[in-house]
Amino acid sequence: MLRLLSQHLRLPSLRLLLDKIKAFFGFEKKKGAEALHQKPLRGFWQKLVDEKILKGETLSVLAPMADVTDIAFRTMIAKYSKPTGPDVMWTEFVSADGLCSVGREVLKRDLEFGEMERPIVAQLFSSTPENMKKAAEICRELGFDGIDINMGCPDKSIEKQGAGAAHMKDWRLAQKVIRAAQEGALDIPVSVKTRLGFNRMEYKEWLPKILEMNVPVLTVHLRTRKEMSKVPAHWELMNDVAKIVREKTGEVRDGGTILIGNGDVLSVKDGKGKAKVGGCDGVMIGRGIFGNPSLFSENNEERITNNEEHLRILVEHTKLFEEKLGDIKNFAIMKKHYKAYVHGFDGAKELRVELMGCENSGEIEEKVKEFIRGKLAVSSGQ
Ligand SMILES: Cc1cc2nc3c(=O)[nH]c(=O)nc-3n(C[C@H](O)[C@H](O)[C@H](O)COP(=O)(O)O)c2cc1C
Repeated sequence: MLRLLSQHLRLPSLRLLLDKIKAFFGFEKKKGAEALHQKPLRGFWQKLVDEKILKGETLSVLAPMADVTDIAFRTMIAKYSKPTGPDVMWTEFVSADGLCSVGREVLKRDLEFGEMERPIVAQLFSSTPENMKKAAEICRELGFDGIDINMGCPDKSIEKQGAGAAHMKDWRLAQKVIRAAQEGALDIPVSVKTRLGFNRMEYKEWLPKILEMNVPVLTVHLRTRKEMSKVPAHWELMNDVAKIVREKTGEVRDGGTILIGNGDVLSVKDGKGKAKVGGCDGVMIGRGIFGNPSLFSENNEERITNNEEHLRILVEHTKLFEEKLGDIKNFAIMKKHYKAYVHGFDGAKELRVELMGCENSGEIEEKVKEFIRGKLAVSSGQ
């Protein structure tokens, strides 16, 4: 009756009032219960289910990392991890509130991507459902294959906004945010990335609240918010997490939620082992990619021992960063990559010190060339 009335009312303010009355009397709950009986919208994930998961293969995906997995680094990863590459890439997280503000154009630059990075998922954070809906609409229009909601970030500035890990303290709001993203995303899938709990292990209560919202994919960073990244990831709990996901959503072949484990995975091979033991469908790799954009390729082992190629990749990465992001991001961002690229060979420490003093790609290229020339001269006995 209320629904009929609100549909036929022409006055938006009255319709709004009726919506509020409906929400107050709990009519909205029905939506949540209905959702439980629908299959999650998988979109591009379905292809990965058919071609990999159902054939017993583990998915390997690239983690979102702010000021690390930007368009420059993702392009390098796409190029050097060929032909296998990560199965899916995530963007760095982006504020949905920011995307709804006047400063949105600058933030949209964080959401730039190239075709070779597909399938690519935009990660958003917010505690305001309306903004999440609008931001999801924007990401859909930008051509993303999927949207992911950050519900695990321990950063104080994000938590103050009620987003990231703070969602674990208010599952009702978290569900509203997921619902809003689904409404904005329409036909592209909405996934969630979270942790095992806030101050303590509360995944038994928290994860089912997310799963009620019919998410096609759930990534669990196997630590609590309190643990940050200071303790080893709790892979020993993955079986328990997987049991919850299967009991709540069913098997993947029947439409159940795809489960991705995250934390301390060092390589694709390491991830496969961890996933087999833990019973998840995929692994997400974060810090393992530092200084090693070919991590997801089959011949990664050969590449990481070739220091000269490594240094050339470092220069290419720097040039790309400057070209794509030089006008909006600080060059200092590149310096954390140098620490990872330059290690494990004679003279690495000295070269690192030199690179830390550089201010642009020209200076970096010069230092690297000098270093390689010096090495060649030594090896040829000059
Ligand atoms: C520098 C840095 C930035 C990060 N930024 C994000 C982010 O934007 N969104 C997110 O969900 N997680 C972020 N994370 C967490 C990672 O995605 C991942 O969950 C965590 O590093 C554990 O995985 P790992 O052990 O493979 O690194 C970030 C981590 C690091 C180290």
